[in-house]
Formats: sequence, C-alpha cells, structure tokens
Amino acid sequence: MIQVRDLTKIYEFGRHKHYALNGVSFDIKDKEFVVILGECGSGKTTLLNIISGLEKPSGGSVKHDGQEILTLSDEELLKFRRDKTVYVFYTYFKRESEGDGKYAELAKMTAKVPKTIFCDEPTEILDEAKGRHIFKYLVKLQKKRGLTVIVVTHNPNVADIATKVIKLNNGEIVEIKENKNPASVDDIGWTPFKCADG
Ligand SMILES: Nc1ncnc2c1ncn2[C@@H]1O[C@H](COP(=O)(O)OP(=O)(O)OP(=O)(O)O)[C@@H](O)[C@H]1O
Ligand SMILES: [Mg+2]
Repeated sequence: MIQVRDLTKIYEFGRHKHYALNGVSFDIKDKEFVVILGECGSGKTTLLNIISGLEKPSGGSVKHDGQEILTLSDEELLKFRRDKTVYVFYTYFKRESEGDGKYAELAKMTAKVPKTIFCDEPTEILDEAKGRHIFKYLVKLQKKRGLTVIVVTHNPNVADIATKVIKLNNGEIVEIKENKNPASVDDIGWTPFKCADG
C-alpha cells in the first residue's frame, strides 16, 4: 500500500514560487494498475519521481507499506529502491527498441521485483504495435505476478486499462476514478501524442 499525503514541490525563480505539486494526496493499494494522467507540465513526472523515492518534495509524506520513505537515509533509500521498485524511463525503450530483445531486458529488470513498477511515458516514442505490447506486458506483471504498476501518460485511452486513474492539472488532483472492469489493451483506442517541448 502506498499512502501519499499533501505533497508539494515548489520551484523558486527569484521571488516567484512555482508549485509543480500543490497538496497532492491519494492511496494506492497493492496490485493496482494506476494511470496518472495530465496535460504537459501538470506535474506527472515530478509526482512519479517523488513517490518512487527518486526526488524529494518540498513537503508532505509518502509511505510504502507504512514506512515513510522521505526520511530514510541515502543508504536506506537506495536499498528500498533496489529491493522494492523498478523505474522505467521512456528513453530506455528507445535504446531497446533499436536492438534485439527489447522485452527481454524489461523482463530481466522486473524479474527480481517484489513490489512496484514505475513507468514514465513508457510508450511515448513507440509505434502502436510496440506500445500495446508494452502495456500488455505491464498488465501481465500486475495480474500474473501481482505487482503494483504505476504509469504516467498523456494518452487518455490508457486510462481504460487502469484499476485507478489519477488526473492531475497544474500540480493538483482534479479527479480520482476507480475502474471496476478495466478494458483489455487490445480494446483501447490509440492516439499518438507528444508535448510540444518534449
Ligand atoms: N527542475 C525543474 N526546475 C524548475 N521547474 C521545473 C523543474 N522540473 C519541473 N518543473 C516544472 O514543474 C512543472 C511540472 O513538471 P513535470 O515535468 O512534473 O510535468 P509533466 O506532467 O511530467 O510534464 P510532461 O507531460 O511534459 O512530461 C512544470 O511546470 C515544469 O516546468
Ligand atoms: Mg513528464
């Protein structure tokens, strides 16, 4: 179980404060497939980085199975990340999709993971067939292996395969929706999309 409470992330530009996250709270149960949706610059990557222990917030709390990760020592945090999480950057797939065995490497990465997989725009630079293949693999990790999967994306179609959808806008949660009957990856629409600056 992941409990996120009142997360803020503030970037200061001189005297101006920019809230990349502004009071974000939610729970994620074990074995959920969570999709974090939002426009470009809405705070998705910042949120994923903080709940996975990659980045520190300006304030708030992130507990994994009751354990506050924001106050762990560097060494403890490293151990938490190594033993409990996998973080997939989208550039990873770029590299892999150029060679053979692109899924073999992901399988290797996830083989030792007991708990949570974090993915930031895992299919943004892939074509539809490869993108669907990746999402099918992630659903398999969730359903067959019992991992908690947390995916950040702009692609609203992907929300249909989630058990929970968290919608961000301007650093704030605008909607949390539970799906009792998630769609299968083959049945969702597919609209390629990229942020202008990314
Ligand atoms: N290191 C940084 N310094 C200053 N501002 C930042 C920094 N990182 C992010 N921001 C700002 O915080 C906000 C949220 O950024 P974030 O990257 O989390 O959004 P995002 O939803 O992942 O965007 P995208 O869809 O483009 O990937 C944006 O306004 C961004 O410009
Ligand atoms: Mg991002």
